[in-house]
Amino acid sequence: MHGLWLTVLLFQQQAVDVPGFDSNPFTSPSDLAQGEKLYLGRCAGCHGPRGDGGKGANLAVPTLSRAADDKTLWNIIRYGVPDTEMPSSLMAQREIWQVAAFVKSLGAIQSGAASGDPKRGEAVTRGKGGCLQCHAIGSDGGRMGPALTDIGARSGPGHLRAKIVEPQGDVPHTFRLASLRGRDGKTVSGIRLNEDTFSIQIRDMTGGLRSYWKKDLADWKMEKRSPMPSYKGKLSDGEIDDLVAYLAGLRGAKGGER
Ligand code: HEC
Ligand code: HEC
Repeated sequence: MHGLWLTVLLFQQQAVDVPGFDSNPFTSPSDLAQGEKLYLGRCAGCHGPRGDGGKGANLAVPTLSRAADDKTLWNIIRYGVPDTEMPSSLMAQREIWQVAAFVKSLGAIQSGAASGDPKRGEAVTRGKGGCLQCHAIGSDGGRMGPALTDIGARSGPGHLRAKIVEPQGDVPHTFRLASLRGRDGKTVSGIRLNEDTFSIQIRDMTGGLRSYWKKDLADWKMEKRSPMPSYKGKLSDGEIDDLVAYLAGLRGAKGGER
């Protein structure tokens, strides 16, 4: 008799803890508040305080591509995404559900996307904005900055707008600009790709790879600023809305946009 009760109790306890639910059992306002706190501490650094991306994926979307339901969302938060920067997490099971509840609420807040015209935005990207000088979209464009082919899946409208208007606000360390000065006085700058004791490799503004021996350099330094120029004042507010609308719709080759 005792043994049976014990089994029942254990089972019940497990049922609360383990993600044996198909949907999130922790979605009360206080769960959401706790989830937000945890999110801001552990996730916002990569996904942005409002979930619209940065280093991590854009979470402020109606349906997450890797986590269409609560169960997969729980698993992603718990175990991360292998071979990407998305880490596993050692939170309590309940805390994971609370963060998951908050992540889902981000999609509800931001689902009304950008107001601009994506067709005009594409024209600005390729024309006046000169974005392809540094960025690839599909097979066109430069390679100095990150490809924008799937930028809409990684960043929401808020983050895109911030990057265009204030690019220095959030510069990933993988894309830091290096400034090099040779012993002959010539200077060159580009994205640092690699560096060891003796040499440094950069990708210059034209996208070319260059390697230098440090002994040939008078000095070199890493810039804190991004090579990405600010478009504040260079493009009208309407043009920036159009750009954001266009970029937010770029979902990579699979999304079909190009
Ligand atoms: C070090 C950066 C980093 C941190 C910290 C981080 N993530 Fe991520 N996350 C990523 C990256 C990068 C991806 C995209 C992985 C890929 O390529 O699919 C991702 C993907 C995701 C996805 C899948 C998105 C989709 O489109 O389906 C979810 C959900 C997610 N993260 C939630 C979280 C939560 C919740 C936290 C905090 C507990 C967190 N992440 C912490 C970097 C991070
Ligand atoms: C002179 C080169 C240059 C030009 C021109 C340029 N960018 Fe960038 N951009 C970069 C670099 C380098 C980065 C990566 C470092 C960073 O995030 O600051 C970047 C980052 C970005 C990001 C963030 C990418 C990500 O993966 O999160 C977006 C979005 C972006 N640029 C959009 C644009 C748009 C839109 C234009 C045109 C209106 C443009 N850029 C013009 C160099 C450039």
